[in-house]
Amino acid sequence: MTDAQRVQRDAHQAEDPASGPLTTDQGVVVDHTDDSLRVGERGPTLLEDFHFREKLTHFDHERIPERVVHARGAGAYGYFQPYESCADFTQAAFLQDPDVKTPVFVRFSTVQGPRGSADTVRDIRGFATKFYTSQGNYDLVGNNVPVFFIQDGIKFPDFVHALKPEPHNEIPTGASAHDTLWDFVSLQPETLHAIMWLMSDRAIPRSYRMMQGFGVHTFRFVDAEGNGTFVKFHWKPKLGVQSLVWDEAQECQGRDPDFNRRDLWQAIEEGDFPEWELGVQLVPEDDEFAFDFDLLDATKLIPEEQVPVRPIGRMVLDRNPENFFAETEQVAFHTANVVPGIDFTNDPLLQARNFSYLDTQLLRLGGPNFAQLPVNRPVAPVRTNHRDGPHQSAVHSGRTSYTPNSLGGGCPAVAGAAAGAYRHHVERVDGETIRRRSASFQDHYSQAALFWNSMSDWEKQHIVDAFRFELGKVEAMSVRARTVEVLASVDGGLATAVAEGIGVPAPQQNGALHKGSSPALSLESLRGDGSI
Ligand code: HEM
Repeated sequence: MTDAQRVQRDAHQAEDPASGPLTTDQGVVVDHTDDSLRVGERGPTLLEDFHFREKLTHFDHERIPERVVHARGAGAYGYFQPYESCADFTQAAFLQDPDVKTPVFVRFSTVQGPRGSADTVRDIRGFATKFYTSQGNYDLVGNNVPVFFIQDGIKFPDFVHALKPEPHNEIPTGASAHDTLWDFVSLQPETLHAIMWLMSDRAIPRSYRMMQGFGVHTFRFVDAEGNGTFVKFHWKPKLGVQSLVWDEAQECQGRDPDFNRRDLWQAIEEGDFPEWELGVQLVPEDDEFAFDFDLLDATKLIPEEQVPVRPIGRMVLDRNPENFFAETEQVAFHTANVVPGIDFTNDPLLQARNFSYLDTQLLRLGGPNFAQLPVNRPVAPVRTNHRDGPHQSAVHSGRTSYTPNSLGGGCPAVAGAAAGAYRHHVERVDGETIRRRSASFQDHYSQAALFWNSMSDWEKQHIVDAFRFELGKVEAMSVRARTVEVLASVDGGLATAVAEGIGVPAPQQNGALHKGSSPALSLESLRGDGSI
């Protein structure tokens, strides 16, 4: 059985409902499901009607918590295939053999809105990929823009609380921005680079099939000898990067809130399988400090003029899920799901994520056994000493579940890479316990300006229009004015144009805070059509 068949088999566990009569959860055939059992024609319903009670009880428990962010999504299965062996820089098994197809599940999402919100809102899109590799599951949990809003995960609850509807009245419920978000942005200028992307057309993709994806953080590849190479991941869509214009996006929200979800589903149903190329930017460890920004700062990208993107493989999505809840809703991605050959860096945002995903999934998916759910189950063999817990569906045999063990059973850990075990990259770390980061973390404007300067005139106009639309809804004039002040440090013309549209004075100190920019660089390659 191939890995792809194994993933497919897992998704087909439930009995075919058309294969026989209705039963209870206990397998007892039910004679009647429309009228509850009662005393006489007009009497009370009887507790002994076990089918009635089971039916209602199950219904009452159908909902699970939605994701705290990225609640709305759409997913699909497919495969990944490398172009050639990547053994020069990683030992990851799924990146070695161009003849091996690794099954994947991808979930695209919006960030802010609840599960039932509209698709075509202005928002970042999630682009999360689970690779079911022979060495275990690897999750690349990315977004469709290459930078993030904050530098340190300790700010994530603050950022998300500012982004979400206001707690007293849950307004606004769409992804449109509002006082709290802009209050946070204006007081926390590290958000600005990602905000520029958010106000651009990238934040209203026409289709999930026409979106780039980015791992955002700097990760680390590790080869068979244990040598590390820094890596940034890029997905490029075969159909090129395409966006809606704002009027279209708004119309879609009303006419077809499922616009992006439907588009993905239909394309796959019709055999028009979407495809992406996986590319990597590789930075030798010796060049860790060769940039005017810190590789550990997720609000910065590595300009492609400095480090070109090297294509290493392709991904095709060719199968829709059988059941939205079982698969797309219950899939659990986690940045810490890595395989030998892929490791982390000390990016403080990534380190927080490595804690947060498992933690939230323990709540969202009801305990520690969600890796047994078909969509989360690795194709690699799973042998653990974990036992019991809610929703345990594995029947572990034997007397023991511990190690070391002389009685038989219990899974021992193997030593060394020779046995295919994951070994954390050996890194020397030295320092005092401080809350400070390197100085370049304080430069919040250079790359935001770089992004602005790489835009064509009509793209700039779309960005100005977006700022005017979003800030124009902010009630607190002080927040509007302060946002324009920080925008002036990105570009004076931008700030003035926005100020004119939202009834606040143009800023006095255009560009005063702007430091360390690299005007010779452009984002041409990132803002291009991204086609492969
Ligand atoms: C989902 C936390 C930053 C991409 C989530 C979820 C949490 C979370 C709690 C819900 C997961 C679930 O219920 O299964 C965080 C924290 C961050 C952070 C604490 C910063 C410290 C980021 C960044 C990216 C990202 C930088 C992109 C590079 C995603 C995606 C999902 C997600 C794509 C949806 C996964 C899915 O489709 O199920 N995040 N996140 N997050 N996050 Fe983050």
